[in-house]
Amino acid sequence: MGWIRGNVCALVAVVSIGAGCSSLDDDVTKAEQAALGDFLPGLTVTSGLLAEATGAFNAVEQITDGVGPVFNERACGNCHTNGAKGGAGEQIERRFGRFVNGIFDPLAAQGGTLRQLFSVGNFNNPNLPASSRGRCQPGNPTLCCVPVEVEPPQATVHNVGRLTTPVFGGGLIDVIPDSVIRAIPATQPAAIRGQVVNVTTVFPNPGDPAQSLTSVKAGRFGWKAGVSTLLQFSGDAYNNEMAISTQSCFRGTSNNVFALENTPNAFPGTGLEGCDDLAPPQTAPNPGGAPAITDSQWRQVDDAVGSCAGGRTEIQDDIFLFAAFMEALAPAPRDFSDQISVTRGEPLFRQVGCNGCHLQTTFRTPANPPSVDIDGTGAEFVRVPGNFAFNPFSDFLIHDMGSLGDNIGIRPPDDPANPMGVGVVEARSMRTAPLWGLRFRNHLLHDGRCGDVPCAVRAHDGQAAASRNAFNALSPANQHNIVQYVRSL
Ligand code: HEC
Ligand code: HEC
Repeated sequence: MGWIRGNVCALVAVVSIGAGCSSLDDDVTKAEQAALGDFLPGLTVTSGLLAEATGAFNAVEQITDGVGPVFNERACGNCHTNGAKGGAGEQIERRFGRFVNGIFDPLAAQGGTLRQLFSVGNFNNPNLPASSRGRCQPGNPTLCCVPVEVEPPQATVHNVGRLTTPVFGGGLIDVIPDSVIRAIPATQPAAIRGQVVNVTTVFPNPGDPAQSLTSVKAGRFGWKAGVSTLLQFSGDAYNNEMAISTQSCFRGTSNNVFALENTPNAFPGTGLEGCDDLAPPQTAPNPGGAPAITDSQWRQVDDAVGSCAGGRTEIQDDIFLFAAFMEALAPAPRDFSDQISVTRGEPLFRQVGCNGCHLQTTFRTPANPPSVDIDGTGAEFVRVPGNFAFNPFSDFLIHDMGSLGDNIGIRPPDDPANPMGVGVVEARSMRTAPLWGLRFRNHLLHDGRCGDVPCAVRAHDGQAAASRNAFNALSPANQHNIVQYVRSL
């Protein structure tokens, strides 16, 4: 398995200034170690921003803030909990879909693929518009009844679990240049070669000049690498996990990509005006923009920045704060307390081919990484340090995992710019899960089915079957050494 090193020197040179290939010989090169949940050393950040961002990530929202009609939880920090705020979690979400002629169909018109687990239920809105579809009792003109979402009868891919992933070190992943991820497949033998997921940046970060409303970036976040930036993930999660819909401005265009409310088993934005939640309706004129938004949909937007006239750029502030918090979080520290097993496990991890996907490569942030910026002026921003070495133990590519794959289309359905027309192979492909910080987790694999590393390895299939078999063929002592190595990362 010596093949990876030679190739990786060229790979790293793309992003690093003066990084020698010697930094690739070991995965223990992290310059500084922070405690779990701490912020990265060397951040450049607006004064006071990190405290505000921490507060926002953990803030528990209510129906009067816009939670509803259907949602999974009320705070980012309520799901991302393992070890520290930002961690993986206990929550396992549910998705469904089906295949039509070999192409994945998210059943978007039936509320797919994410089945939100809760609804705001029955509540009174004293200002309920007469036309609201959520109105439920003729004798009680202010009562809303919002049913929970159910798996529709058309679904043939059922009740697929998605475990909450950790976001420690997310800012470092956010700034990996596309060129680095795109160069990786050519370094991998055909049998295990991964695939880049191209994601349209529907929610560009004003701090990154490379991003626009039409730019494409290599996906890297989520179990399917279906999301390319922390900012986009933040808007998506606020909308789809917490049911808080938002509108932002980007270079004079209203960005409505996260503006539509999900309703139970209906296309997003189908609307339950007045029964969506109890956030005050928007009263300013509809700012137009893309995707197009009706006046009724506009009134239901929970948090909006308003008119985008005059070339205005402004990210809705909660979304910016979530992204800023995650951008700033340091990776989990390594644990060398079982030094003997860790030292023995490191070459074995290579020998059985784990590092073909879980790269032992040291990545480095660019010399001048882009910042996450609320409006592109530098008034509020956070930037990760340049030339910062880190070891996520992933290639950020998707691999055909055979029977382990979840058969769900790659991208979130909630993202209208990214239709999910993917075939069977892509649908069972999964992102190589980064292994850093794994020992702080309670559950492993996309559906949380495993509680320990051997269980996770034995479930590997498809492109990872050979590596799994090689692991299984090792002596119990050497399997233990690999496990201890993985738990040290
Ligand atoms: C109901 C639980 C829940 C809530 C609330 C939640 N998340 Fe998540 N988060 C998840 C799950 C599940 C995943 C894995 C998603 C996937 O890949 O399908 C995830 C993944 C992520 C990731 C990707 C990390 C990676 O590399 O895989 C980011 C970033 C993220 N969430 C940010 C947020 C933010 C910001 C909020 C608050 C607006 C939030 N999440 C709220 C459950 C939650
Ligand atoms: C062909 C690529 C590939 C190879 C080779 C591979 N893995 Fe994985 N690994 C993955 C993917 C993809 C996932 C995510 C699978 C899922 O949850 O659906 C994963 C997940 C894991 C997880 C669970 C991580 C989490 O976040 O839950 C562990 C642990 C793991 N791999 C360890 C190993 C070890 C140890 C080896 C070598 C014996 C190995 N892997 C070989 C691709 C690979």
